[in-house]
Amino acid sequence: MDYFQYKKNELFVENVSLTEIAKKFKTPLYIYSKATLVRHINAIKSVFKNTKTTICFAYKSNSNKHLLTILKEKGLGADCVSLGELLLARKVGVNPRKIVFNGNGKTDEEIKLAIKMNIKLINVDSIEELLNVSRIAKSLGRNPEIAFRLNPEIKVSTHPHIATGLKNSKFGIPLKHALDAYNLAKKLKTVRISGIHFHIGSQITEISPFVEALKKILLFSRKLKKQKILLKYVNIGGGLGVRYKEEVPVTLKEYAKKTIPYLKKIAPETILEPGRVLIANTGILLAKVILVKRTSKNFIVVDAGMNDLLRPSMYDAYHEILPVRIFPERKRENFDIVGPICESGDVLAKKRKLQTIYSGELLAIKGAGAYGYAMSSNYNLRPKPAEVLVDGEKFYEIRPRQRIEEIL
Ligand code: LLP
Repeated sequence: MDYFQYKKNELFVENVSLTEIAKKFKTPLYIYSKATLVRHINAIKSVFKNTKTTICFAYKSNSNKHLLTILKEKGLGADCVSLGELLLARKVGVNPRKIVFNGNGKTDEEIKLAIKMNIKLINVDSIEELLNVSRIAKSLGRNPEIAFRLNPEIKVSTHPHIATGLKNSKFGIPLKHALDAYNLAKKLKTVRISGIHFHIGSQITEISPFVEALKKILLFSRKLKKQKILLKYVNIGGGLGVRYKEEVPVTLKEYAKKTIPYLKKIAPETILEPGRVLIANTGILLAKVILVKRTSKNFIVVDAGMNDLLRPSMYDAYHEILPVRIFPERKRENFDIVGPICESGDVLAKKRKLQTIYSGELLAIKGAGAYGYAMSSNYNLRPKPAEVLVDGEKFYEIRPRQRIEEIL
């Protein structure tokens, strides 16, 4: 459910027309709806309200400081994967006891910062990394809490680039080596073993992979118990899918209902790392038609390209595209919607039936709030777009458009 709706053939975000926003802030432009974000936050909080749960928003999915501040004010923590994200979480004012640190290639500098910040948990990705964390902890005279990221080897039906729990994945420790990892950590005494972590992939719309992973993790946690290794936290990662096209993702209610019984058996406190499910449908990318080109195909060439929104090029991802103004009398045609980048792969959408459209008119690319701006680049030396937040009747810039001088 989001707050992007047509009113008399004109697309609105909450109570503001997209045309009005484009007039003020130009295009391409990321636009977010505060009411949608708050609704999603409340929804996930409410289904876990009777459990001891920390929700750490995946900063990689969207790192706009203003949006992160809203998330913080609603009580969410941060899942960070880099020095930059740790520093950003600190800048936003997130309580360090609500920050977890992930990644399969943490540098000494990053580990040092995480330990000094006294964050909740470092999710250690390998036995090799454990030795690094241990060495750094010792040199700082600290005793950080860690979890191991385990790989439960679960097949998920998502794009291969975003499935992270497969047998040959670069992430996590295979279950068959996991006991060794915990025993080694216990022996080292430089770290406190507090948790268990897994993250099996992203845009997962079914419940079964989560449950299957939990079953395996529960079995493993029993082995730990036998060795008197007691866990405080179980971290189930992120990965919940959203509806981009016709998917029917598992509801948050169902997700909670099916996972909580396992989570409770594994450890007293749960950590979640949702990104997409909170933020994807909170944002759109607004683009202007530069021209309509007709060859053997019809192309709508817009001013947003793969540098602004990489997902369609990188994952063949589907994003719904809507005209900002509907003209009911116009005929409908098939179009490919493409950007201006010098790459054949710079295609935002293929074979979409849309009303005939003309240069200067606007298109809204939906579901762009997660991994949209976050994955944007300066490819072709194009400045990054601005970001705007709508709150009822008000709207304001939450990140300025990059100036061309900044990148020359
Ligand atoms: N936790 C870990 C350890 C992760 O690696 C990720 C995402 C998340 C949490 C958040 O997952 P989410 O709830 O958003 O599914 N760029 C891709 C998605 C890459 C996801 C990477 N890891 C895309 O645009 O679809």
